[in-house]
Amino acid sequence: MMPSALLSPVLALAAASSLMACAGTGLPTATPTPMTPAGSSALAIECDGVPTPPQTEGPYYKTGSPERRSLAGEGGGTLLTIRGAVTDEACNPIAGAWVDFWQTDATGNYDNNGFGMRGHQYTDSSGRFSLETVLPGRYPGRPPHIHVKVRAPGGPVLTTQLYFADSGSVDAGVNPALLVDTTPEAGGIGGNFTFVLRP
Ligand SMILES: [Fe+2]
Repeated sequence: MMPSALLSPVLALAAASSLMACAGTGLPTATPTPMTPAGSSALAIECDGVPTPPQTEGPYYKTGSPERRSLAGEGGGTLLTIRGAVTDEACNPIAGAWVDFWQTDATGNYDNNGFGMRGHQYTDSSGRFSLETVLPGRYPGRPPHIHVKVRAPGGPVLTTQLYFADSGSVDAGVNPALLVDTTPEAGGIGGNFTFVLRP
């Protein structure tokens, strides 16, 4: 989803090499850290102007998630950091966008009693967000995924899901436009994702 003409050289290189370095055995176990700031405004935003495709909400969404940028202390498994942005179709960053994540822990279980592995945040003045979490587990019939709702101030809600390469491969049927390209980094893996919203 990222024409190279729109990427910085560094980001283009990261995108090209991303699928070969994902979750698998031997990766570090998640070590939660204090809340992280939103992404650095010094980084270029990956954006091709193509609206992020919607996907089903599924049965496990709960309203009222806590506002926080880190879920990692609850999930076990591999630390996963997603840095990204919310933009419009012209790739203009959207400040103050609401981004609500929910996912399973590393064993593929949702917390349907409390708010474990659930949290929302707002993009900063540069339209950026940063989520520290863990790589979600599999559950029957589903590849690892993170559910998310995104809404620009005053705009409609986009409901979709993010996916990850697993040991260098991607599950059949996963929309590549929703794949987070991850690479190893200190303590776990990390990747970037830009949500492009329709008005
Ligand atoms: Fe799910």
